[in-house]
Amino acid sequence: SILIVDFGSQVTQLIARRVREAGVYSEIAPFQSAEAAFARMRPKGVILSGGPASVTAEASPRAPQALFEAGIPILGICYGQQLMSAQLGGSVVISGDGGEFGRAYVEVKQPCALFDGLWSVGERHQVWMSHGDKVDALPPGFTPVAVSEGAPYAIVADEARRFYGVQFHPEVVHTPDGARLIANFARHVCGLAGDWSMAEFREAKIAEIRAQVGERRVICGLSGGVDSAVAAVLIHEAIGDQLTCVFVDHGLMRAGEADEVVSLFRGHYNIPLVHVEAEALFLGGLAGVTDPEAKRKFIGKTFIDVFEDEARKLGGAEFLAQGTLYPDVIESVSFTGGPSVTIKSHHNVGGLPERMNMRLVEPLRELFKDEVRVLGRELGLPEAFVGRHPFPGPGLAIRIPGEVTKERCDILRKADAIYLEEIRANGLYDAIWQAFAVLLPVRTVGVMGDGRTYESVCALRAVTSTDGMTADIYPFDAGFLARVATRIVNEVQGINRVTYDYTSKPPGTIEWE
Ligand code: XMP
Repeated sequence: SILIVDFGSQVTQLIARRVREAGVYSEIAPFQSAEAAFARMRPKGVILSGGPASVTAEASPRAPQALFEAGIPILGICYGQQLMSAQLGGSVVISGDGGEFGRAYVEVKQPCALFDGLWSVGERHQVWMSHGDKVDALPPGFTPVAVSEGAPYAIVADEARRFYGVQFHPEVVHTPDGARLIANFARHVCGLAGDWSMAEFREAKIAEIRAQVGERRVICGLSGGVDSAVAAVLIHEAIGDQLTCVFVDHGLMRAGEADEVVSLFRGHYNIPLVHVEAEALFLGGLAGVTDPEAKRKFIGKTFIDVFEDEARKLGGAEFLAQGTLYPDVIESVSFTGGPSVTIKSHHNVGGLPERMNMRLVEPLRELFKDEVRVLGRELGLPEAFVGRHPFPGPGLAIRIPGEVTKERCDILRKADAIYLEEIRANGLYDAIWQAFAVLLPVRTVGVMGDGRTYESVCALRAVTSTDGMTADIYPFDAGFLARVATRIVNEVQGINRVTYDYTSKPPGTIEWE
């Protein structure tokens, strides 16, 4: 196995999934408990993650020194590289030029076991950088094997000890060869076999769910998305009719979505399902609320309230199951004491009220969306459902900046349906990770017929991604966007202007709130 020591990077789980993709088992331990995890696991290799701290600061996180004395390979990524340098006798400085962020190119200067069979001397390769500090002097035994414009120590190696450090992030998809570098580290450098698979994950989770739940009852919230559906089917496979699904229809769904969920579960699977229609409750509570975090917290809390009521009506369930994925956890995790920063309070995690009196079953907590899709196929879910674009728990509420009203939800549903219809009709749906319309609280002047209009602006968003953690905009051709814009303005009353959002993630997030 491989031990991943987490220093609070937003993308530490991506390292874990790259290792999983290489067919190798890994565990993540926060740096504070890394020493204990190391002693328990006896891993064949260690990866030190990135993180938001600066090695140059006095109280910054450190790796247990024992890791460096165990005689096993170590890969340090970004902060991990800087840390390794600092702890082994080199030094780190704050970049004078403010650092390097985004796309960069490394040039290979020397052969190295880390990229054996992948990269050769003299080649240039795209990588993804995100750092303010950099290594300034290497520890004894290390040599630079690749350089970039902003980092003379883009990749460093001590081949004798099998210690490697990369300044860039090989775990993100914007480092095209990154997954292969990590696989090479896990298999070639650490000598691990590569025989772990999703079928094993399924079996392991089923056993884990049975052990956790025993004879007790579970209710599972369905959102209409892939995650909660996969969680429900997996749990149903583990404990059968001890599971009841509850679909809280908060009135913030897309057009037609509620019916699809109900027919999939009642018709296709015959899994017990309660359909709660709670539009009035949610919209009533959202009246006058404009702050994104306040919306998220209200929806999360109300969702759980409705659940508790249903659980009581069902005669008590001890567990609440949710399709929480890793990105939901990491982006809202800082309140649990981890070292990363809160970006958004995700509906199914950050909004949980303290007084919630059901325990959680979250079998997908370590996975990313595309891994959930693999698991969904493994479980036999229909392709049309597995291949669906993700949809956030708080629904359309976070796609209507400003106040959410029924009228604005209806306007947005119409625009969104037209946009998705055109995307499907043009065969683009599967090439896009997520596409949706956003209804802005801005009105602009237009002219239709001979009259003046003064209506809302609709923004269209479409991104490609493999995990939701980073994303690029989808490059529609101008003709396509023009057609969609014309249709929306002509067919949807209340919208007289359409714009396209060109922001990647980072620096933008996928949703607008
Ligand atoms: P962001 O906007 O954070 O979104 O870049 C990343 C992915 O997560 C989805 N998302 C959510 N999913 N509950 C969810 O279940 C939420 O509160 C939530 N907020 C965002 C978003 O649609 C995208 O796929």
